[in-house]
Amino acid sequence: MHLKELSLINYRNYIKLELKFSSNLIVFSGRNAQGKTNILESIFLLSTGRSHRTPRDRELIRWGEKESAIRSLVEKREGSSLIEVMLSLKDKKKININSMTAQRLGELMGHINSVLFSPEDLKLVKGSPTERRRFMDMEISQVKPKYFYSLQQYNRLLNHRNNLLKEINGNSNLKKTLPIWDEQIAKVGTYIIIQRLTFINNLGKIAKEIHNEISLGKEELNVTYNPSINFSSYDASGIMEDYLKILEQNHEEDIKKGRTEKGCHRDDLSISINGMDVKTFGSQGQQRTTVLSLKLSEIEMMYKQTGEYPLLLLDDVMSELDKYRQSKLLSYFNKVQTFMTMTDYSDLPNDINSNMEIYEVFGGKVAKI
Ligand SMILES: Nc1ncnc2c1ncn2[C@@H]1O[C@H](COP(=O)(O)OP(=O)(O)O)[C@@H](O)[C@H]1O
Ligand SMILES: [Mg+2]
Repeated sequence: MHLKELSLINYRNYIKLELKFSSNLIVFSGRNAQGKTNILESIFLLSTGRSHRTPRDRELIRWGEKESAIRSLVEKREGSSLIEVMLSLKDKKKININSMTAQRLGELMGHINSVLFSPEDLKLVKGSPTERRRFMDMEISQVKPKYFYSLQQYNRLLNHRNNLLKEINGNSNLKKTLPIWDEQIAKVGTYIIIQRLTFINNLGKIAKEIHNEISLGKEELNVTYNPSINFSSYDASGIMEDYLKILEQNHEEDIKKGRTEKGCHRDDLSISINGMDVKTFGSQGQQRTTVLSLKLSEIEMMYKQTGEYPLLLLDDVMSELDKYRQSKLLSYFNKVQTFMTMTDYSDLPNDINSNMEIYEVFGGKVAKI
């Protein structure tokens, strides 16, 4: 897919920005705090409905303004579409797809797919399980709206159950209503787990190949799904049965703590190189390469699932990679439209074999070079 146009109104430090793109590589160059990441963030927002930097939409609206609009024209094999996100201090965010107002955020998913890669992605390897769950959830949601809705539903159910657990502490009569929530949570949870399992199986295979190539055959990367419940079998009915059993077994413990200890909200990924856990034993270089392998795998996964390459958003990552890894990444520009930020465009490797557009970003203004 290709982003043909992007327009921002009162978004972050932009009053009004209108850009038209005609190539596969778009570079935003400029010093710190000028608005480079803000542009990538707006594309990510069009793609997933949220910023990768903050859960609070109001931070995205230009200071002193009440509303903000982000628009883009995207071209795919099936045709082009106009995607708009409107933010307001007063109301919920509004989404228009081809000038029709979407009823739910989930309708946005799949129109613009993107893979974002920034230095903070090291958290994917080094950070808490939350980071790895977010990674899985974001990826699957982009290509599968049903998954997105199921997650929302799961979180609602979990909240209900947790509130109930706290109430039971004061009124044990309520305990008999717990199984109703257990049943629903196990059902939605089973769907989520199956989707994650399939996704990670496929991603793991691709990541292993890519990593093998990048490490010149020296490293075997293994990415596996690590659910918080040990399942005796991985078919739907087996998962559901074990899920329910664990929830029941944990009733007393959960009531004491006032929260649900086990379930897919506690899942994780295991990432290892040559059998050693990358988080604990990996060098900084191995951790970086692992993230690169995972990101490149995401691109291929999205292509496999949708028949269309996503947009690639590279925020300040080139300088962190050595020449060999840079050129691996650069080889993607031919097939994947890439938006890239950097401090100085003259640092671009001179063997880039692609048409490109370079923009200088300065204090919320953008000029083509
Ligand atoms: N809501 C906002 N309104 C106006 N300016 C903002 C807003 N949020 C962030 N900024 C400004 O945006 C700039 C940071 O932009 P960013 O894209 O992160 O910079 P960089 O070029 O380093 O990637 C800072 O100058 C910050 O003050
Ligand atoms: Mg930045």
